[in-house]
Amino acid sequence: MTKRMILNINGISRNVFANPDDSLASVLREQLGLTGTKVGCGGGQCGACSVLLNGKVVRSCITKVGKIPENSSVITIEGIGTPDDLHPLQVAWVNYGGTQCGFCSPGFIVSAKGLLESNPAPSRKQVRDWFQQHHNVCRCTGYKPLVDAVMAAAEVMRGDATIEDISANSKVGADGRIWNTHYPRPSGVARATGTVDYGADLGIKLPADTLQLALVQATVSHAKILSIDTSAAEAMPGVVKVMTHKDVQGSNRSFGLVIFPWNKGDGYDRPMLCDDKVFQFGDAIAIVAAETKAQAEAAAAKVKVALEPLPAYMSGPEAAKDDAIEIHPGTPNVFFEVNLKKGQHDKIDDLMASAPYVVENDYYVQRQPHLSIEPDVGFAYIDEDGVVTIHSKSIALYIHHFMLGAGLGLPREKLRLIMNPQGGNFGYKLSPTLEAYCAIATMATGRPCFLEYSYFQHITYTGKRSPAYTTAKAAADKDGKLVALEFDSLVDHGPYSEFADDLTTKVTRYNGGGYFVPTIRGRGRVTFTNHAFGSAFRAFGAPQSEFAFNVLMDELAEKCGMDTWEFMNKNILHPGDTVGTGEQPDVYPLPELMAMLKPEYDAARERCEKLSTAAKKRGVGISIGMYNVGADVADEAGSDIELNPDGSVTIFNTWEDPGQGADLGTLVTAHEALRPLGMTPEQIHLYMNDTALCPNSGPAGASRCQFFVGNAIVDSCNQLLKAMAKADGGYRTHEEMVAEGIPTKYKGHYSEAPLCSGPDPETFQFAVRPVPTYQYAAFLAEVEVDTATGKTEVLKLMINADVGVIASRQAVDGQMFGGMSQGIGLALSEDFEDIKKHTNMIACGMPYVKDIPDDLVANYIETPRKDGPFGAAGCGEIPLTSPHAAIINAIYHACGARITHLPARPEKVLAALKK
Ligand code: FES
Ligand code: FES
Repeated sequence: MTKRMILNINGISRNVFANPDDSLASVLREQLGLTGTKVGCGGGQCGACSVLLNGKVVRSCITKVGKIPENSSVITIEGIGTPDDLHPLQVAWVNYGGTQCGFCSPGFIVSAKGLLESNPAPSRKQVRDWFQQHHNVCRCTGYKPLVDAVMAAAEVMRGDATIEDISANSKVGADGRIWNTHYPRPSGVARATGTVDYGADLGIKLPADTLQLALVQATVSHAKILSIDTSAAEAMPGVVKVMTHKDVQGSNRSFGLVIFPWNKGDGYDRPMLCDDKVFQFGDAIAIVAAETKAQAEAAAAKVKVALEPLPAYMSGPEAAKDDAIEIHPGTPNVFFEVNLKKGQHDKIDDLMASAPYVVENDYYVQRQPHLSIEPDVGFAYIDEDGVVTIHSKSIALYIHHFMLGAGLGLPREKLRLIMNPQGGNFGYKLSPTLEAYCAIATMATGRPCFLEYSYFQHITYTGKRSPAYTTAKAAADKDGKLVALEFDSLVDHGPYSEFADDLTTKVTRYNGGGYFVPTIRGRGRVTFTNHAFGSAFRAFGAPQSEFAFNVLMDELAEKCGMDTWEFMNKNILHPGDTVGTGEQPDVYPLPELMAMLKPEYDAARERCEKLSTAAKKRGVGISIGMYNVGADVADEAGSDIELNPDGSVTIFNTWEDPGQGADLGTLVTAHEALRPLGMTPEQIHLYMNDTALCPNSGPAGASRCQFFVGNAIVDSCNQLLKAMAKADGGYRTHEEMVAEGIPTKYKGHYSEAPLCSGPDPETFQFAVRPVPTYQYAAFLAEVEVDTATGKTEVLKLMINADVGVIASRQAVDGQMFGGMSQGIGLALSEDFEDIKKHTNMIACGMPYVKDIPDDLVANYIETPRKDGPFGAAGCGEIPLTSPHAAIINAIYHACGARITHLPARPEKVLAALKK
């Protein structure tokens, strides 16, 4: 049925022809081309699709066209402002750090417009209430910058401030610098105006012969595949091809990157399309390519898969038992183990026995879902040179090129990867999956192929943080000085080994991270299971062990009869101390960070004491965080620069941008390096994230990019400056360079090999540090626990961090606030455990604005890193190393409930309280 109606869209009367059941979002996006309205959850939970309908904020994904009155007015982000004529809200969003990935920005800005029309002078609380009421969710920013932006825009709209007042951050500093300032990200305007094309937007704009893909996915967690019958699906209308593993032209295995030689697996355990077995719920068994998405999905439902069930191991301890069957026959389920032995590890039993204070406990950090607002999406086509080209959310373009080539049957030069602008990631796209499906389909059909996951698929079939079970025992001497630590950590990595050995070493070495422990005997193990496959997630490995250790330290402080701050301060790394892996780091900022924390700690404790009641108990907790900058030992990066005829330059690199601001990092670093040329930021162009045209800069992980890619950028800039330099102190123009036969393009490179060493495999001790530098933090959380319900509210969360000299204040603040908000989710609500229940944002425990305190604080000291570009290190991981431990410690100090297994949902806190 087709309904014709007139709608006034962004001030223009337009004919709309639609099925009454169509959503307003799909009509706006797919029929009217208004792709500024984004669709995230597709189910009314995230507000990304917000528009104004007759002046009211509505979620257009759940608004049926048939329910909209004739002649209604619809305002989308395109009707609020344009890049040339920004609305004050958009100016504020750009200048106050409102756009990280920017996928939520159009929905928030439209929603905020609705608020300011009804209330021109809202309080911060009213802004937060409004976003809560309208289900506006942001996974990147921690919400605080968004509230800041609304307050600033409201001032302009009331005439209390000017656009210039709220644009001060956009200006180049008085000294000509943008390094170490709040200068906004270059793509901010496009993100705030909805003019950035994300994967689904590009999908709408692909050629007419593009095929739509649907997956046939496993609905069980472990089984043998007996047969796959595609005949009924092939006969369905619109179907062009149904593909199984038999259609994959290569080995059908993606390579999981074995890093340590004693790994018992070979890294080839992941089929691109299942052949012999199903290893987890959601595994892809076949792909249907059809003319429309509905046709592809209808046909996918007709594929018959005969299975023989196998025991499904849904937790690490079950899969690690001796009598468990091998999930990958021929490889033990526990496929990698690392032993960390430091100091007098062979005398640890005696040390523990003779120590006056010993505590022991067991801890669990859960399968945290990434919950990017944009679901996984991508497409592939064969370009005019016959190269299979994949566009996706990959944040490891060259690594994925390497992981996928042989499995797809493509030689290096026949595969090209390009990163689409993307709506959040936080690490899950270090694991390539959808990339392979698109490529397989395009190789089998010769046509462009597009695939977008539903939010259900996004949650159930993308990687998760690997849960870890840790038992730990620590001893202190009579003065409260740590003597020894013993631990055992078991990591559940799901069925695929991608990055698992690296993860397990991180979990292992951050037991005790940030503290000086003279003697350690610890073991880290990882097991295959049949739960969700593990993938990278911000702070990769640290939240598991730094949670365990920081809670253990709180327990040990109490046992020693000491205040937690005094105890932690005594035991953090001081100059000359060695870390768990045996080496001395390059800097020791923790004593200063702890000193900064002390007045806040004292004030918060006093406040809590005053304001606690029997019904609502308040408490303060603290923790220490530490994380590496860079992947161990072999890390390196490239970045190129070219001088253009008009005197501008173009930087080429693959600093992937999951939302953190790779464009801004590249710009500020190049601008600083090119200061002798006196360039404006606008004279530095960026061409990024295309393996055909940009060098290998490595993955956007391990907080490595500002350090490694930054150094490569500086190297390329220095080479160009040297080539342009004239004897009289001036610089050649492009024309002069060409006339003199001097190259105008330079390849920058940086490697850590000269600075670092590998580990002793017996002890996991490093003679020289494994990475060039680390990032550090001290966290403070202030909470209130409702003793009747067990519900915890975080009232304040603070990070005092040292991430080296700050390259971009906007980007670093954004990482701190966003990371801490994910820490609140990790502490209190987030999980992907029940594969039947945890299938949408709310069920997975996504923090909404009222779950994150407005009192979110980031303070810094900037200890220059000798080897970093202009002293910078990296920052993305540190805010999620241990904020959850501070929150859990705060719950204990509020009400005496000691939670050791996360998340601390109300029923768990209540049960602990009753105990
Ligand atoms: Fe519409 Fe999430 S509420 S996309
Ligand atoms: Fe809000 Fe990414 S900036 S979800």
